Amino acid sequence: MTSSVLVAPSLLSADPLRLAEELSDVEQKGADWHHVDVMDGHFVPNLTYGPPLVRALKKFSKIPLDVHIMVSNPEDVAFDYVDAGADVLSFHIEAATHGHRLVSALKARGVKAGVAINPGTAIESLWPLLPEVDLVLIMSVNPGFGGQKFITDASSRVNAVDERLKILGRRSEVRIEVDGGINEETGAAVVKAGADVLVAGSYIYNTQDRENRITSLKEIR
Ligand code: DX5
Ligand code: ZN
Repeated sequence: MTSSVLVAPSLLSADPLRLAEELSDVEQKGADWHHVDVMDGHFVPNLTYGPPLVRALKKFSKIPLDVHIMVSNPEDVAFDYVDAGADVLSFHIEAATHGHRLVSALKARGVKAGVAINPGTAIESLWPLLPEVDLVLIMSVNPGFGGQKFITDASSRVNAVDERLKILGRRSEVRIEVDGGINEETGAAVVKAGADVLVAGSYIYNTQDRENRITSLKEIR
């Protein structure tokens, strides 16, 4: 992608008792997408949101919902989140039995299909899906919690995907998103490597200075 960087604040770090206010606040301060982390207590050691909450978020939100499902057997629940209003739906390559089939089915339903990958998974395992996907979500922490430290190797993984997409002639069609430990410094490193969507939870929500932080991420070139 050659357009400017998109910023997706992660709801995981928002105040859970004031979600509506929190959504509006980051929208007014320049957020491009809301990143919604779905965790099942099995694929990752934490539990979060079900489809009813996503449906409520969708009714209220003025910007796209970027739903990241960290669940075992994503084929079983992905379409519940699509029905609830996900605009982008990313599942984990480690969890899907038929990842290629799931990507095709998501696209056939008109949702943007993303594939997410953990830090410990060989990046080349994405290659068979790159001709089909709309988005690649590269984890720069081990998923499950907000506020963890960025794993430096993520930048070279972004670069590898960027190069591979260029070889396939798909670089302008596929977004590369990075999730975990993003701040101005780590954000700059991954954008330099080719990222075009930055997820940031604690860096945006855990501060009084949300507007400046969103703007500073969006201005990374
Ligand atoms: C981690 C989630 C992330 C998380 C990022 O499992 O996928 O989206 O909310 O939080 P920060 O930006 O605080 O690392
Ligand atoms: Zn996420």
